[in-house]
Amino acid sequence: MTAPAHDISLVVNGEHVRERVDARTTLVDFLRDTLELTGSHVGCEHGVCGACTVRVNGTVVRGCLMLAVQCDGMRVETIEGVADTGEIADLEQAFIARNALQCGFCTPGMLLCAHAMLRDADAPMTRDEIREKLHGNLCRCTGYTDIVDAIEDAQAQGITR
Ligand code: FES
Ligand code: FES
Repeated sequence: MTAPAHDISLVVNGEHVRERVDARTTLVDFLRDTLELTGSHVGCEHGVCGACTVRVNGTVVRGCLMLAVQCDGMRVETIEGVADTGEIADLEQAFIARNALQCGFCTPGMLLCAHAMLRDADAPMTRDEIREKLHGNLCRCTGYTDIVDAIEDAQAQGITR
């Protein structure tokens, strides 16, 4: 049976978008397949790995757990958008300096998660707190140490944007 289609209107990376979507289309599939924003990755499709992390109205969410229709009227930012604005440029440099990526599959989600934790922290985070906040973003390559190092460096440099 074909799912009903819905017209949605939203702002993606600062641009107004109007599309007709299947009611069951996830946000990450909509971003990747319809808008060709393939920086958000799809791993588990069950909300476990964090590869699909994007921002909706400023909050970091799992793109595989939201439906595109739920984002009608909302503001969505992907890794492409925050990279283009330079919002995460310093954080990207911290990741590069610490070799905090290997295959890169987890990296867009890691960067968005790290950016949000730096932005939202009321006080300097310990390494354990950084690791705890990363618990929803899985990396199969790095062992996490270099990622935590990079976030710690960014924090020490006052990188919150
Ligand atoms: S693909 Fe969304 S959490 Fe894994
Ligand atoms: S760098 Fe490969 S999954 Fe994280």
